Formats: sequence, C-alpha cells, structure tokens
Amino acid sequence: MRKKTLFTRMIAVLVVVGTITGISMWYVGFFSFSPAASYDVNLETSLKDAASIPIGAAVDTYNLQNDPQYEELLSLHFNSIVAENEMKWKALEPEQGTYDFSHADYLIKYATSRGMQVHGHTLLWHQATPQWIENFEGTDAEFRARIKGHIQTVVGRYKGQVSSWDVVNEAFDGQAYRDTVYYRRLGANYLVDVYTWAHEADPSALLYYNDYNMLGDIDRVNWVMTEIRRLITAGAPIHGIGIQGHITLESPSVSSIKAALAGWDALELKIRISELDIQANYDGVYKVLTDRLANQQENRYKQVVAAFLTSPNLTGITLWGLYDGHTWIPYFQGHPDWPLLFNTQYEPKPAARGFLSAIIGENC
Ligand code: XIL
Repeated sequence: MRKKTLFTRMIAVLVVVGTITGISMWYVGFFSFSPAASYDVNLETSLKDAASIPIGAAVDTYNLQNDPQYEELLSLHFNSIVAENEMKWKALEPEQGTYDFSHADYLIKYATSRGMQVHGHTLLWHQATPQWIENFEGTDAEFRARIKGHIQTVVGRYKGQVSSWDVVNEAFDGQAYRDTVYYRRLGANYLVDVYTWAHEADPSALLYYNDYNMLGDIDRVNWVMTEIRRLITAGAPIHGIGIQGHITLESPSVSSIKAALAGWDALELKIRISELDIQANYDGVYKVLTDRLANQQENRYKQVVAAFLTSPNLTGITLWGLYDGHTWIPYFQGHPDWPLLFNTQYEPKPAARGFLSAIIGENC
C-alpha cells in the first residue's frame, strides 16, 4: 500500500516536471517547428531621410561590388558608411610596407561620390594587428616609427574624405589597459601619442575612441570616462566616444543605457553609436526568427534608439551590417541570429519599423 503511494507520487512529480519543462521549451522556441515570423513591413520613408543625424552601415566591399540588391538597399536608407573590415591594419598593410588600398579606395569613392559620410575604422585594434607588427623584432624606436608611419600614411591618404576615425579600438579590457603589443611597446601613455599622430595627418578629422561594454556597466563607464579625461588633459586630441552597441533583446536595460549616456554626455565629447546590432537569439535556442522575437526586436530597437536620441552629443548611429544575410553575429556566437533591420531577402523587418518610429519620434 505504502509502496504504491510512493510510486504514484513519483509518477505525479514526473508528469508535472515534464509538463513544465515541455511548456517552457516550447515557449522559448526550442522545438524547430516554431514557425518563422510572417510580416509585411512598409517603411513610409527611408531611414536617412527621416533622421536628423547620419544613419550608417558597416559595408563589405565584395557585396557592394557584386550584389545590386545590397547596393540598392545601402543607398536607399543610409548616408554614412564604415568599412566592416577593409580599413583595419591587417587588411591595409598585411606585410611591412606593402599596402593594399584597393578595397578601401573603392568604398570611399563610392561614398564620397554620393555625398555619403565616411567613418574610418580602425587604425589600431589588437584583433586586426598584422603578424609582422605582433612579432616586430626591431627596437622600440623603430616600432614607434612603424606605428606612426602606418597611422599617418592611412589618415593622410584619406584626408578630407574620411571625416572621422576610430584611432584606437578596444584599448581597455574591463577597467584596465588591455595587454596589447601597442601598450607593451609604446608605453602606458601610448594613446596620447597615437591620437596626436592621427591629428597631425588630418587636423580636421574627428578622432574617436571606440569600445564595447560602454552602456551596461556603469562602473566601467566611469572608469573609461576618467581615463579619457586624463588622456585629454595629457594632450590627446580625442574628440568623441564610439559606443559599439552589440546588444541583446534583454541586456543592457534601457534604464542602464540612459544612465550610461548621461555619463558620456558629461564628458562633453561627441558620441557615436558605432556598431549597433540587437541579437534576437542570444542563447541559441531558436532556429528561425519567430513572430514573437521579431516583435520583441522591433520594440527593443524602438526603445534603445529613442534612448540614444536623447543624447545632445549624438553625431550618428551606425548599424554593424546592412542585412541579416551578412552579419558577424552568427560567427561570433556560433549559432544563427538575425540582429539587423533588413532580412536575408533585403526586406525591412519589424525591427526597421521600430528603428524608424524612434527616429520619427513616435510615442516611445
Ligand atoms: C568584426 C567583423 O564584423 C568581422 O567580419 C570580422 O571577422 C571581425 O571583426 N567590434 C569591432 C568590429 O570593432 O571591428 C568587429 O567587426 C566586431 C566587434
């Protein structure tokens, strides 16, 4: 009799646990039969025409040259571009003294002939440093000369065409200097030198410091701000902050974004949202963008863009890619995602409507 009761209880517990697990897996879209979102979004105006600040996209030259739909979408909605990879050091000067400007030249000519703004990304980034610099065997003085040479060759070449630069990308790791070859060989104050060299090569270009994790963690925001202030006092011509903005549906919260922006505004520098994309599948459980995700992403774009626009120092918003057919997120995260405003068929997603309505200033 007792055994039977125990057995019945165990079965009951299993049924309850099984049901709850099943429902939650269904809810988060674990089963691949979650259907893809169906929508028909018509934007009443192009993004760039609705905005009072430049709206940019990170562009891939190969796509621009070979895919007419890509080019059409870019020119319809965007009036600012940045090279997704082609202006990084590894791409421009893969071997010492051997430059390949062909892709960058193409992009810049494309943009300037259409009156689009060009932002340069990026002169120094630890992830795009060529091997010959990582393993440089000369003296520290020779190393300095190489870095200065690269910066001034590139900025000088595009003087008057590239209106702003990310001179250094991701120099800080949390609340400390990142241990890079630049930090080790140029010394702790290297940012003062490299910004000065860029400024000498084009005194009218605006020079930005660009980084991630600049919206959610207020302690880090404060640390970076203090360091930027110190560098400016030490003579670094830093004119603006690039806030990358690779975010998710949940994080960071809109309230922490607003708090961080208020902090950045206190610096009284220019602010760019430099690499915006919103991951809809951060945990990797979905196989497709469902209706629910598409709606959440629409809302999230609307709220975060509205928050960005409250900054009086905002000089532009750039998406890190043009459409879901070409985005770095699936490679970075190792699973599918749909973080941009246009889908793989180049059609506007609900996210684009969210972005546009924030720009138009609908009740956010
Ligand atoms: C990424 C590109 O999108 C990828 O194609 C490339 O393989 C790696 O770099 N932060 C940055 C960008 O500042 O340069 C990075 O771009 C994405 C993260």
